[in-house]
Amino acid sequence: MYCTIGLLSLLALGCSAAPTDKNYFADLPKCSTEEDQLGECVKQLFNTLTPRLKDGNPELRIEPYEPLHLNRTSFQYSSGTVNGRITVRNAKIYGFSSNRAKEVSVKLNGDKVKLRLVTQMPKLNIVGSYKADMQVNQLQLKPKGEFNVTLLDVEAITVTDGEVYEKDGHRFFRLKNIDSKPKIKDLVIKANGIFADPELDKIALNVANQYWRDIYGIMLPETRQFWQPLMLRMFNEAFELVPIDQFLKE
Ligand SMILES: *[C@@H]1O[C@H](CO)[C@@H](O)[C@H](O)[C@H]1NC(C)=O
Ligand SMILES: *[C@@H]1O[C@H](CO)[C@@H](O)[C@H](O)[C@H]1NC(C)=O
Repeated sequence: MYCTIGLLSLLALGCSAAPTDKNYFADLPKCSTEEDQLGECVKQLFNTLTPRLKDGNPELRIEPYEPLHLNRTSFQYSSGTVNGRITVRNAKIYGFSSNRAKEVSVKLNGDKVKLRLVTQMPKLNIVGSYKADMQVNQLQLKPKGEFNVTLLDVEAITVTDGEVYEKDGHRFFRLKNIDSKPKIKDLVIKANGIFADPELDKIALNVANQYWRDIYGIMLPETRQFWQPLMLRMFNEAFELVPIDQFLKE
């Protein structure tokens, strides 16, 4: 029953922690399992741990996550006259350490836990290399270069469900599903290598930046299959290593 609470703290980990160093978490609130207080407590845990863990902690085997490195991802882009495949390599994502929970609600049912989080990030910046194979009208393009994309005011509603289980006399939490819907206020795309001529690049980017809502609307579902399982895996890797007992009031 108590189990549920600690899990949320772990939501903030995002990386792998070792069997716990009690002192590292000693100043954190202990949560009661009353549903009406639990959400607020988990929010505090999230908002304390997120910035604290950004540079990682070798003792706890927590990896730094600011920036977050992504080796490679590839997705389809199709919209009207533009069709093709985009591959992104060596991407670095900056901004998750400023992610803050605004609202958290938790529902407990035995060992089953449902969480709903509203989080806000002022800015998310993704830089990396890209390669694409695109058909634009009758034109075949194979652009290749560097990109720098900035998302402003990212607000996400994330719904998850998970369960508490026991191992070696401790309680742990794992997520079974995660569903995140991020909304943004603005998107700024910078890239080179779209055309051989940098002036044409500038024109293409101007157009792209005017249509950022359309681009975002296409990229978000196309890339979801990639980032949603990644989120789930990252959280579960962390949860697996940190028992939640220490975050529970007993
Ligand atoms: C990313 O690529 C590097 C070098 O190719 C490799 O050593 C590393 O294991 C990869 N990381 C992941 C998470 O796949
Ligand atoms: C990417 O663009 C942002 C916003 O324009 C800027 O602050 C940042 O320094 C740029 N990063 C790189 C690696 O160019």
